Amino acid sequence: MAKYRIAWLPGDGVGVDVMEATKVVLDKSGFSDKAEYIHGDIGWEFWCKEGEALPDRTLKLLRETDVALFGAITSKPKDEAAKELIPELQDKGYSYFSPIVRLRQELGLHTNLRPCKAYPGNPLNYKDGIDLVVFRENTQGLYSGVEFCPVPDAVRQTLLDNHPKMKRFGDVPADEIAISTRIVTKAGCESIVRQAFEYAKKYNYPTVTLVEKPNVLRETGGLMTRCARAVAAEYDGIELWETNIDAMCMWLVKNPGDYGVLVAENMFGDIISDLCAQLVGGLGFASSGNIGDNYGVFEPTHGSAPKYSGMDKVNPMAMILTAKMMLEWLGEKETADRIEKALSEVVIEGKVRTYDMGGTNTTMEVGQAIAAKL
Ligand code: IPM
Ligand code: MG
Repeated sequence: MAKYRIAWLPGDGVGVDVMEATKVVLDKSGFSDKAEYIHGDIGWEFWCKEGEALPDRTLKLLRETDVALFGAITSKPKDEAAKELIPELQDKGYSYFSPIVRLRQELGLHTNLRPCKAYPGNPLNYKDGIDLVVFRENTQGLYSGVEFCPVPDAVRQTLLDNHPKMKRFGDVPADEIAISTRIVTKAGCESIVRQAFEYAKKYNYPTVTLVEKPNVLRETGGLMTRCARAVAAEYDGIELWETNIDAMCMWLVKNPGDYGVLVAENMFGDIISDLCAQLVGGLGFASSGNIGDNYGVFEPTHGSAPKYSGMDKVNPMAMILTAKMMLEWLGEKETADRIEKALSEVVIEGKVRTYDMGGTNTTMEVGQAIAAKL
């Protein structure tokens, strides 16, 4: 059988540490015998040296591989980023755009799947028994990237001509106003909701909860809600719960056990998935997959944590659970299950723990402890 071709993208900061610990687990699980790992350049270093954090050669690599495993990336606001370019690239029109957001869009990774499960024995669990899965739309909404500052006259005029509420902003100077758009399509909304329902059906969840704000965002939230109702009507026995993002944050803190599958537009999914992650131990446990029709980029939800960079300190469990998601997506369910079981045994034993769980072990020691269970 041909080997799986895996794009291996450690990226920045602790991404490197957690990927090394994950490799030990993948090797021990036997999966590495069936896989070829191909390193790809991505991260802050390439922004500074080349003016592009996601070089074309890396995009090419992704197009030529089966799947990508990605550590973490450092992102900074536009102005700060511009200052860190090497002198030769300064003032040449380079503009920083988050490489992970670009990846999601360029590769059509329309679905961000974020499971948040309370593993028994994890001292960081907010409550026992929490089992949440967020389906986050991953390429549209407030992340569409259609933004203006300054606002071109033609854009403002078109809005003035077409919307009475724009009048309030008619006289603001062009460089004192900014516009970010929230663009959603019927196809995008239907697709993410359908996947949430399919997941609920497959794993026997009785409800799917839509997280939106249609009482204020009447058009985008309205379209999402209509699509969700239409899709829900096709699934007997699975109820659609409609909630507003703000109230949902409150309900999740109050009664997290009431919920299972959540579905949301990009930005609301971003927000709610951090909240869900914290309920089950924080970013050290939050795995995720950016999934398209034919490709997936799997990354833990945590960032690059520059202050811990190279210290072998952070919890690799999010990354290891992310690798497990990748295996499931590849159809290697048996190996994925074994890895999850090994990880949960290490959690419950409580002997090998990184600092976030109250322990003193290193990233690599946690990887080795999980590998030893395999
Ligand atoms: C996430 C992150 C990213 C996002 C950032 C790093 C651009 O917060 O994956 O949730 O906002 O999507
Ligand atoms: Mg986020």
